[in-house]
Amino acid sequence: MDGAVKRVPVKTPGGAYDVVVGTGTLPLIAEKRDMLERDTFALVVNETVLGLHGDFIRRCFGGFRNFQSYVMPDGEEHKSYRHAEQAFDWLLESGISRRSTIVAIGGGVTGDFAGYLAALYMRGVSIIHVPTTLLAMVDSSVGGKVAVNLSAGKNIVGAFHQPEIVLADVDFLRTLPDNELRNGLAEAVKHAFIGEESLYALFDANDYDSIKSPEILAEVVYLSARFKSSIVERDEREGGVRAILNFGHTVGHAIESLLEYRGISHGEAVSLGMAAELELSVRAGLLDGAHAGRCVRLLERYGLCTRREGLDADGLMRHMKFDKKTSGGTAHFALLSGTGEPVYDRAVPDDLVRGVLIDVFAAGG
Ligand code: NAD
Ligand code: GLY
Repeated sequence: MDGAVKRVPVKTPGGAYDVVVGTGTLPLIAEKRDMLERDTFALVVNETVLGLHGDFIRRCFGGFRNFQSYVMPDGEEHKSYRHAEQAFDWLLESGISRRSTIVAIGGGVTGDFAGYLAALYMRGVSIIHVPTTLLAMVDSSVGGKVAVNLSAGKNIVGAFHQPEIVLADVDFLRTLPDNELRNGLAEAVKHAFIGEESLYALFDANDYDSIKSPEILAEVVYLSARFKSSIVERDEREGGVRAILNFGHTVGHAIESLLEYRGISHGEAVSLGMAAELELSVRAGLLDGAHAGRCVRLLERYGLCTRREGLDADGLMRHMKFDKKTSGGTAHFALLSGTGEPVYDRAVPDDLVRGVLIDVFAAGG
């Protein structure tokens, strides 16, 4: 076992657990098996991860008396309500009981889907997250949001279901493609902008090549999980401050939805969204332009896009009106008022938003 393992405690009304971060943390699952004294585990494992890391995963679970595996196909389209029904049938046919534990091994799609199964199966069974993408390590595995998609929209049906433990083993990231690494970096940079100063300093002191070392990635995951934990502990169910985690997402989701999720990754959309919302923060009189400029240059240093031509501002405005964060026809934003000083649930007049969207996107910047 590698010595460099760090633990982030997360304490919420829905459950207390550790996020265990480092290299070689998956073997710690054996400890948990003894603690849980449960006799059956259902592994919900992403097919790509199984292909790349199957031997390692089988070794870690080899000592378990009874485990069943469900292979989760690749792709957001499988995180669906329809697919969940099939998976519930599989859990039942496989003898998974109320005393069993589901273990999600994969990215955010697998974690959200398996977490949703765990929240509902037999009125709730326990879940362990083993995130294998950077995005899942820094964001989706922490905080208990689980959901599946309907054809009408993403994450429409879901729950808050906190895990027993999160085992974030950065060894998995060795096989992660660059575009997926950038998706995770976008969310980690978001944490740096909205409040985690040591993470901001770490990003500031590195670049895209140096950040890819396992030690530095482990620190990115640790600092991100620590920051997200501090927010979720204050507001588990997003009644207030948790909304700051939506920084960059109001515009980001509108971009994804306008482009029908084609030709753009979530990380690219969030990064473009952060660039637009930084500018909006400046024009709303909250943020100093020089600081916004530093943030934009930081995004660019990590190959995260901050400009894109030809996105129709009115189209984006229409998509924002359908967003979960819209109320009374006005889009609400998480904005920055300085380093680590986010303002959440801020209604911004349409003309101010449209002006930013035209300048950042329609004209190509
Ligand atoms: P993903 O789960 O689809 O994984 C991305 C790709 O990486 C997949 O093709 C997968 O097969 C591959 N992959 C995974 N681990 C790998 C590894 N170690 N090596 C090589 N390839 C690997 O996508 P994601 O970006 O991890 O997660 C996105 C999902 O997370 C979305 O559904 C989003 O809604 C959800 N999400 C949830 C929360 C939350 O709080 N619950 C937060 C943010 C995002
Ligand atoms: N990803 C945002 C949240 O967990 O609230």
